[in-house]
Amino acid sequence: MPDEHRSGRRSAAPALVPAVLLSGCSGIQSTLEPAGPHAELIATLWWVMFVVGALIFALVMVLLLAASLRSLRSARARPLSARHSRRLVIAGGIVLPLVVVVPFAVSSFSISRAVTPALPDDALTIEVVGRLWWWEVHYLDAEGERTLTTANEIHIPVGQPVRVLLKSDNVIHSFWVPRLQGKVDMIPGEVNTLQLHADRPGVYRGQCAEYCGTQHALMAFEVVAEPPQQFRAWFARQRMPAAAPATTDARRGLEVFLNASCVDCHAIRGTEAEATKGPDLTHLASRLTLAAGTVPNRRGHLAGWIADPQRIKPGALMPPTELPAADLRALLAYLESLK
Ligand code: CUA
Repeated sequence: MPDEHRSGRRSAAPALVPAVLLSGCSGIQSTLEPAGPHAELIATLWWVMFVVGALIFALVMVLLLAASLRSLRSARARPLSARHSRRLVIAGGIVLPLVVVVPFAVSSFSISRAVTPALPDDALTIEVVGRLWWWEVHYLDAEGERTLTTANEIHIPVGQPVRVLLKSDNVIHSFWVPRLQGKVDMIPGEVNTLQLHADRPGVYRGQCAEYCGTQHALMAFEVVAEPPQQFRAWFARQRMPAAAPATTDARRGLEVFLNASCVDCHAIRGTEAEATKGPDLTHLASRLTLAAGTVPNRRGHLAGWIADPQRIKPGALMPPTELPAADLRALLAYLESLK
């Protein structure tokens, strides 16, 4: 991660305890390392809740200790008077919870409004469809028409709010990029909206946050936030159809692709492959990962994924593809040319 170590604006000391407690949630996918204004608000609320919770815990422990010592010191300690007990119950059981819970309720409500402000009409709009177990990504124009289809990797310009329309055509998924925004469910038949806003460039990992079947845990994606100019260049490149294969190997690879079962599920714009059951592969070689964030996009992983996807992601809907070694090499040469 290019910016993994740049986020510590606060001192490290108060982060130590929760960092230990939450070590499983930290690193590349942590709410506590916000990279955008919405995530900052959520992280701030988290810290306030953590500190208040810790203070209340400490207070309860002190009272418990004091009560224990008191009863140890004198077995004949007089019980509290009825008036004292009543006061204690009112202060500790009604006033204190109200003083704590009401401000939390108000701030949590106002922050959930603040992370979904109105967007300008011309804001970049991306439609994301939760599939089993990957993410179909469509960039939309001002009329809502799809202008670019890709998968498992979402590029956004830094410093601009982006509208993300969330859909599912199967079960409920949940779209979550902890360093940029809270999570929002993708519900069949509904369109939910979320805003992504990164204020510094980076690669931010996202993860499905609603149990959706066998490979829920390996349903991840990357959000690549880049300077607007770089984003526009990426977008222009991605809109181009796939480059015609330039080498003998790659030409043979395209033939292998079109004659094997690949063509039944995948599309490569500019070729006869137009199926939409699986991810669009037009610019597969430009992506960072394979199989929805499961493995890095390298030749060995790609070969393993084609030959036996079940070894890498058991339960994945992609069947194994048995190919003679020379055909597999040619297919890899072709797929790696899809920059
Ligand atoms: Cu999709 Cu969990």
